[in-house]
Amino acid sequence: MKILITGGAGFIGSHLAELHLAQGDEVYVVDNLSGGSQDNIKHWLTNENFHFFKANLLNWPELENILSQVDRVYHLAAILGMFRVLADPVFTIEENIKTTECILDIIKNLAHKPLLIIASSSEVYGDQAGLLDEDMPLIVESTSKNHSNYPISKICNESMGLAFYHEYGVPIIIVRLFNTIGPRQTGRYGMVVPRFIKQALANEPITIFADGTQTRSFCDVRDTVNLLNLVANNNASIGHIINVGNNELVTINQLASLVKSITKSKSEIIYIPYAEVYHGGYIGIKERQIDVTKLLTYTNYQYQWRLVDTITYMAQQYHEKI
Ligand SMILES: NC(=O)c1ccc[n+]([C@@H]2O[C@H](COP(=O)([O-])OP(=O)(O)OC[C@H]3O[C@@H](n4cnc5c(N)ncnc54)[C@H](O)[C@@H]3O)[C@@H](O)[C@H]2O)c1
Repeated sequence: MKILITGGAGFIGSHLAELHLAQGDEVYVVDNLSGGSQDNIKHWLTNENFHFFKANLLNWPELENILSQVDRVYHLAAILGMFRVLADPVFTIEENIKTTECILDIIKNLAHKPLLIIASSSEVYGDQAGLLDEDMPLIVESTSKNHSNYPISKICNESMGLAFYHEYGVPIIIVRLFNTIGPRQTGRYGMVVPRFIKQALANEPITIFADGTQTRSFCDVRDTVNLLNLVANNNASIGHIINVGNNELVTINQLASLVKSITKSKSEIIYIPYAEVYHGGYIGIKERQIDVTKLLTYTNYQYQWRLVDTITYMAQQYHEKI
């Protein structure tokens, strides 16, 4: 197969590239390196099946040419990470919506339309309790908070994708990714697991935002990319929205304790109110519990990574870098 990964030098995209190269596929990556890094893909730059284009999707002259050649597109390029979303509201909403629009506009006119997998986010569910399944109503939080630009941009992407599927027959799959963790993830933009591990290894205070009773489930990126590939391999997924993640639920307090014990850290655990961290633009999400019923029906997948194993692996990697 020929595969295009937008944002392929980022965290999830680089693992997808690795998976498809291992399968013998030809992989094209476009990334402007605004969030990702060439370091993430450096191992394959000399591989003849790997083609890297450092470019902004919005003015990449090769886009139409490559879209007309590939069988599958994973559209991951986006602005994300709460620090970045809050600091760059216009950029977030513009980039996230325009990149998707620009891909859909080209594919709708192609005779051979590649399968387009659009990365959405669990953020579209807003602050809702209980199991989050794909058919429930979404919550649009107040637009007076900059935070909401990110989920709104993702909701727009979902609607655009599905509209192009119904009206022009563009084969799309919407994947709602829940928190993903693993090697190559940066804590720069606020991601909690790499941030905790770095703090613990340095014996600095582990900083929990709010009271730590909020719940999250974390999926290892190596499971995530296997799942994305399996979802895409199954034709029944076309035209559907599918949650992608792992349902091993933890509170952020439990996460901090786990990181502390795995790293044998002397760090104290301290609490910072959201308002101090994000200066008011953030919407606190109390629970985030993924329903994986549809995902497992479409993929029949056995997870390979538990949270404790991923944290141990990441801590080992960071430790070697220090
Ligand atoms: N990581 C998670 O936990 C998570 C959770 C939910 C959804 N997602 C979604 O999954 C996708 C991938 O996330 P990630 O964690 O790998 O993020 P990432 O920041 O590591 O990857 C995104 C990549 O897109 C690139 N990019 C951004 N705008 C671009 C543009 N205009 N042209 C070309 N490249 C551009 C960035 O340089 C970056 O490498 C995103 O769409 C994100 O919204 C991720």
